[in-house]
Amino acid sequence: METATLANIHWYDERFEYDCQARNPQVEQACFHHFFGRKSMTIVDLGSGTGSNCLYFFEKFPEQQKWIFIETQENVSQYALKRLSKSATEKGYKAVQKENKLTLTKEERNISIEYITASFLDLVDLVNLDEVDLVMASAAFDLISFPQFIQFGSVLLEKKLPLLTTLNYAEMNFDSEEPTDVFCIEKYESFMNRPQEFGKAMGKKCPRILVDFFQKQEAEVVVGSSTWRLEGEPAKAMNFHLLNFMEAAAIQMIEDEDEQVLFEKWINGKRKLTNEGKLNTYVQYYDLFVSNR
Ligand SMILES: C[S@@+](CC[C@H](N)C(=O)[O-])C[C@H]1O[C@@H](n2cnc3c(N)ncnc32)[C@H](O)[C@@H]1O
Repeated sequence: METATLANIHWYDERFEYDCQARNPQVEQACFHHFFGRKSMTIVDLGSGTGSNCLYFFEKFPEQQKWIFIETQENVSQYALKRLSKSATEKGYKAVQKENKLTLTKEERNISIEYITASFLDLVDLVNLDEVDLVMASAAFDLISFPQFIQFGSVLLEKKLPLLTTLNYAEMNFDSEEPTDVFCIEKYESFMNRPQEFGKAMGKKCPRILVDFFQKQEAEVVVGSSTWRLEGEPAKAMNFHLLNFMEAAAIQMIEDEDEQVLFEKWINGKRKLTNEGKLNTYVQYYDLFVSNR
């Protein structure tokens, strides 16, 4: 269990560079424009993981910031605070951590980060939303079902709370002619939509559902694609992480021995290409900034 969690942490960290490159500039600018001139902001980050949103935005947002991380895995949140503390210290901030709270200060800048170990589906019971300016979520909504999302999205609309959601999975390809690609990618994607106790997660339909839902509610939606480009030699480590992740998911969906043989041959071929620095992987996501007119 511990090993699995640590493996996740390294995979999240490895992603950071690709997440940053993928961020859609128009969507990001729409968010900055919305908050232009603000001196302070309270931000809730849903499924905050190792704190990548905060790491990316804390020098871009106003000088007074209060972040609330909502994450189910406490050890991942602990790691997030350590990671943020290290990075901010390297940028000249003073970092003080007490249990689940980290404070970063530098001249006029004062940033507090606190984590709550809970499900973001219980958001209304966890945080006073009247005191929140922005809700963020990255690579998180594809994990929940459509009914769960509606419940959640309705609260945001009712409270007129802006939402910045990035890395909503849509599709992937390997820029190759290999006929087995489509089958194996579909196996991986079917894992996202497997029946779970709460229903079926939105998976690759997530971006379309989000846009449709908010547009029909007449919210203002700025949407744009964001893509992981894992190309060749420099992306070797990330390609290996992604293949491992795909394998762990897909093998749970394999239906018979023939499929298993096909999948193993395919994944070994991709690993060989990765080793040779020849694998190019493109993962298509969508970023959205939603606000009320
Ligand atoms: C794919 S990771 C993304 C992490 C981070 N947002 C990022 O972009 O690096 C999804 C995270 O959401 C967390 N998570 C999943 N379902 C959750 C829920 N219902 N409530 C809170 N956290 C959740 C997972 O533990 C995981 O850390």
